[in-house]
Amino acid sequence: MTILGIETSCDETSAAVIEGEKRRVFLKSNVIATSLSIHAQTGGVIPENAAREQIKHILPVVSQALSDAKTDVSQLDAVAVTYGPGLIGSLLVGVETAKTISYVFNKPIIPVNHMIGHIYANFVSENSKLDARRYALDAQIEFPAIALVVSGGHTDLLLMKGHGDFELLGGTRDDAAGEAFDKIGRLLGLPYPAGPEIEKRAKKANPKRFRFPRPLIGSADFDFSFSGLKTAVLREVQNLEARHLTLEAETINDLALATQESIIDVLTKKTLKAAEKFGAKSILLSGGVAANQSLRDRFSVLSSLPAGRQGQFSVKLFAPAKSLCTDNAAMIACAGFYNSTLLTWKDITANPELYY
Ligand code: KG4
Ligand code: ZN
Repeated sequence: MTILGIETSCDETSAAVIEGEKRRVFLKSNVIATSLSIHAQTGGVIPENAAREQIKHILPVVSQALSDAKTDVSQLDAVAVTYGPGLIGSLLVGVETAKTISYVFNKPIIPVNHMIGHIYANFVSENSKLDARRYALDAQIEFPAIALVVSGGHTDLLLMKGHGDFELLGGTRDDAAGEAFDKIGRLLGLPYPAGPEIEKRAKKANPKRFRFPRPLIGSADFDFSFSGLKTAVLREVQNLEARHLTLEAETINDLALATQESIIDVLTKKTLKAAEKFGAKSILLSGGVAANQSLRDRFSVLSSLPAGRQGQFSVKLFAPAKSLCTDNAAMIACAGFYNSTLLTWKDITANPELYY
């Protein structure tokens, strides 16, 4: 089954072609145009600007994805598109494009929830059929799985019992993990999006200088809260300023590491707790924050501890290629393959408030 995926929920315009066969999905092409540099100038995404950029990029991105995959619209079996959640102006560009392709070329549409799409990045095998590890990916991911989606807008833990079978266990009560990275980065004068910059600076930091709280780390539920962390960093910055200390590069690095450590501790602890409680065989990381190498490394260490150190269970860890953690259409096409509700162009509308 050849599927064209389209993703335009926020500030990335992406189109991808995948080939799905039985229990494997191969990536044929994945084109991403980002308007990040425009949002960096305003310190965050202004929805009108994002929508305007989507309109500019969508057609060139779709044709590039088709030509990179050496295919054309007539050969597609379906078009999978993100229909929510996201910014309405941005979502509409992708949904209307998919509807037009569907109408003109008589192709079915598969509506995809962006958050579920992130999880399915774990099921995408990259191009080379020679890559044995990735080739067998689907076969390796066993259910039940615990999926952690950590993006700019969401921090959610889900129990995945099978394809399309999700139960939300918990989510953030206020800021998402990526949002916390971005807002704290702004406080430290770092460019948007701050996650990658905080990761870079944390590598040069002194780990002993600052320690911030780990919000809700011990709570009985699977919820998260990161707004208090932002306040704690703000207070530390104000303390430094009250002592007439300027935010030197070294101090920013140390604050960056303490921020990252707090977020990593909370995310790993709660995810492993959920994995243990539900007897998960796999943990699936996803979302932009899952591109963070320190987070991946910590998960990798904790999930490979011998049974007994972290409870009586063993669990396999999966994380998508870093390029598939942030928004992309490959994950949308892949989610479409595994959950193909084939609709006609008339039956789909964008839903910015869509949840699970
Ligand atoms: O999934 P994504 O591309 O967009 C949403 O659906 O929100 O996630 C973007 C978020 C941003 O908040 C960004 O700062 C964060 O992911 N991010 C990172 C890293 N790369 C992106 N956070 C920490 N470390 C990274 N390396
Ligand atoms: Zn996303």
